[in-house]
Amino acid sequence: MKIAVLGKGGREHSLVWKLVQGKEVEKVYCIPGNAGTASIAENVSLEDNSFEGIANFAKEKRIDLTIVGPEEPLAEGIVDFFQEKGLKVFGPSKKAAIIEGSKIFTRELLQKYEIPSAEFACFDSAEKALKYLHEKGAPIVVKADGLAAGKGAIVCETIGEAEQAINKIMVEKAFGKAGEKIILEEKLVGEEASYLIFTDGNTIKPMVSSQDHKAIFDGDRGQNTGGMGAYSPAPVITKELEKEIIETIMQPTIDAMKKEGREYIGVLYAGLMITKDGPKIVEFNCRFGDPETQPLLMRLESDLLPILQSCMDGSLAEQEIKWSEKAACCVVMASGGYPGSYEKGKEISGLGEANSLEGTVVFHAGTKLDGEKVLTNGGRVLGITSLGNSIKESIENSYRAVEKISFEKAYYRKDIGQKALNREK
Ligand code: AMP
Ligand code: GLY
Repeated sequence: MKIAVLGKGGREHSLVWKLVQGKEVEKVYCIPGNAGTASIAENVSLEDNSFEGIANFAKEKRIDLTIVGPEEPLAEGIVDFFQEKGLKVFGPSKKAAIIEGSKIFTRELLQKYEIPSAEFACFDSAEKALKYLHEKGAPIVVKADGLAAGKGAIVCETIGEAEQAINKIMVEKAFGKAGEKIILEEKLVGEEASYLIFTDGNTIKPMVSSQDHKAIFDGDRGQNTGGMGAYSPAPVITKELEKEIIETIMQPTIDAMKKEGREYIGVLYAGLMITKDGPKIVEFNCRFGDPETQPLLMRLESDLLPILQSCMDGSLAEQEIKWSEKAACCVVMASGGYPGSYEKGKEISGLGEANSLEGTVVFHAGTKLDGEKVLTNGGRVLGITSLGNSIKESIENSYRAVEKISFEKAYYRKDIGQKALNREK
């Protein structure tokens, strides 16, 4: 089969890496891809990047399946567009991707079906939001309704911070249309974890648990990023909690979406807070996580393509999905200055040496080829991912590989996975 993967990040490199190992896979294209995907698949940069342009490419090359990495095209309806043209595509429809595209939709859905989440209120004007803020007080979380590249949620410890956040979203319009409506919600307290499932709209098959590191600095300090590292499994999710997450959150959400006429097919990613009252939803994403996918796919022993196909043809219940008992850890190397401004075009050295370490794969994110050289080309540059017999070993293996790699102003967190190790103490 011929496959196309849409996107250019570490998530997409790991998807391509896993797919090319598949029995039925004869060719993989990555649109537009990065230097990592170029080494194992064919990168394609389309002049016409519209849905029409991508669909034309899929038709011309007789692509059997297109897999969509990022949320924007899903929220904008690429799946519906492809299906109308008779093209196979993996991901939720526009009606279903709203679970990530509108935080208000999702909060209302969770409330209606009594799925554990934060208490919230929605507003379409700054005055009303401020009035509610002064009634409720702080801490409080202020969120833009729509997609804001992971930056639309502002956790405020004081009323002053929350006033500024409301102003930033509704008056200064920092996130444009995504901030026409906002949510003020209860700040959940606990440890965060990521829980992803495959679903065909009825059956769900969980992936193994994982945990992201959103903040830029060690100790979860500083601004939020796309994610500075991830590991799997996340010991905060015990066997009992996992059962609770499936029974009280994941299956009820898939069932609720179906009842609402928004059948959800694809990967559903729950950002959870494990509170003292149990797991609660912080957010849903309508796709694979980045960087969670890197450690998750390294632990996936089964072929990926048949799982995706069974989500699409409704036969997921018959799929057996095998995961490695090993742990995996991904350390993200970023350009100095990220998530603020940073320079691009720095030469990266040591990639070969890092990649040749047993059990390690260097997934590329913001990289590009320049002849034989690999240059930095984004904020998050690489995701160095290793397996290990324990979480500790996987962390050590990844950092050993990180030390082999260098580029000017490279930055990475030194404490990826530390929360898991602290638990063992
Ligand atoms: P979101 O954009 O909704 O994914 O939120 C980004 C990050 O903000 C989350 O990963 C949390 O760390 C934090 N956050 C969002 N909502 C809440 C909440 N209700 N309580 C505590 N932290 C939150
Ligand atoms: N790991 C965060 C995300 O994929 O949105």
